[in-house]
Amino acid sequence: MEKTLHVELKENRYPIIVGAGNITRIGECLKSLSKSTKMLIVTDTSVHQHYAPMILWSLKHADFDAALMEVPVGESSKSLEQFARIQDRLIEHQLDRSSLLIALGGGVVGDLTGFAAAVYMRGIDYIQIPTTLQAQVDASVGGKTAINHVKGKNLIGAFHQPKLVLIDVDTLNTLPQRDLRAGLIEVIKMGVIRDEYLFEMVEENLDGILDLDTETLIEMIARACANKADIVAKDERESNLRVVLNYGHTFGHALETLTHYDELRHGEAVSIGMNCAARLAVNLGMFSEFDYERQRKLLDQAKLPVTFPSSFTPKAICDAMSYDKKALDGKLRLILPAHIGEVVIRDDVTDTEIIEAISQCY
Ligand code: GLY
Repeated sequence: MEKTLHVELKENRYPIIVGAGNITRIGECLKSLSKSTKMLIVTDTSVHQHYAPMILWSLKHADFDAALMEVPVGESSKSLEQFARIQDRLIEHQLDRSSLLIALGGGVVGDLTGFAAAVYMRGIDYIQIPTTLQAQVDASVGGKTAINHVKGKNLIGAFHQPKLVLIDVDTLNTLPQRDLRAGLIEVIKMGVIRDEYLFEMVEENLDGILDLDTETLIEMIARACANKADIVAKDERESNLRVVLNYGHTFGHALETLTHYDELRHGEAVSIGMNCAARLAVNLGMFSEFDYERQRKLLDQAKLPVTFPSSFTPKAICDAMSYDKKALDGKLRLILPAHIGEVVIRDDVTDTEIIEAISQCY
């Protein structure tokens, strides 16, 4: 089974292909898409050992001249240093404006490579081959690319849409369970913000998903991507609608900042954030206790964390959310659920209400 859907943008319509074993046929797949034979694959040291030889073989077989480079595993690779290394390699390998960059890996590799593609020779084509669940259902779709600055995450970046997102669910076989669960939060999040059917799909098939049942994964990932594609098509540059994807993220980012990004996976911080946002919504009388419990039960069953570490006070967490405040003209925009399948953007929640909700989530 393979599913193809499209991100329908005015100037750039591109496919998302979701299947199993499809990266072994990458050479064939790129024949109609690539304008040149030259390409550079960027991957990380852990993904490299599993998939790079097979992909290089397939590309060579299809007469492509592909070079490959590795970046270290982890968030620290979203740096000016690694960005410069990619530019050096692009120049050394003599890629021109018709050449292609390939991002093979998780969100870090995708964001870094996408940004390198956005600026090399004022922008060249790239494709995403995401190998983590988080990247498959969220980061690889929608053209957000960036590196980090010491003052904050994703501060240097560009919107640059890929030409293709190629998702091979078989790559999840080598993903640690912890990362699989952390990636699943983005699917659950999508269910809460706009697709109750997707939420139910996770509720009913959690064992199959965690056991990596191929058909279940393809169905679920394609459905999550269809939602993301629809949001991106309606609001590519996050002027309004796309902001709903930040459900749970304002609390989550605060926690990531406080823990210096090295204790919790992004998805784990978002899970705690979603639980707190839901609790806040109950307190504000806009979300039922029943729906709160339903979300919490699913997070618990997926063995995702829902409580803040005791080392940080509610006030410290609330203060750490202030970065988002500054970025949005002094007003904190919170995405709060109304019911499973619908969220509301609120900018009128007080710090006292936020601190009260956080204090209920330990
Ligand atoms: N990851 C959130 C977005 O793409 O907007």
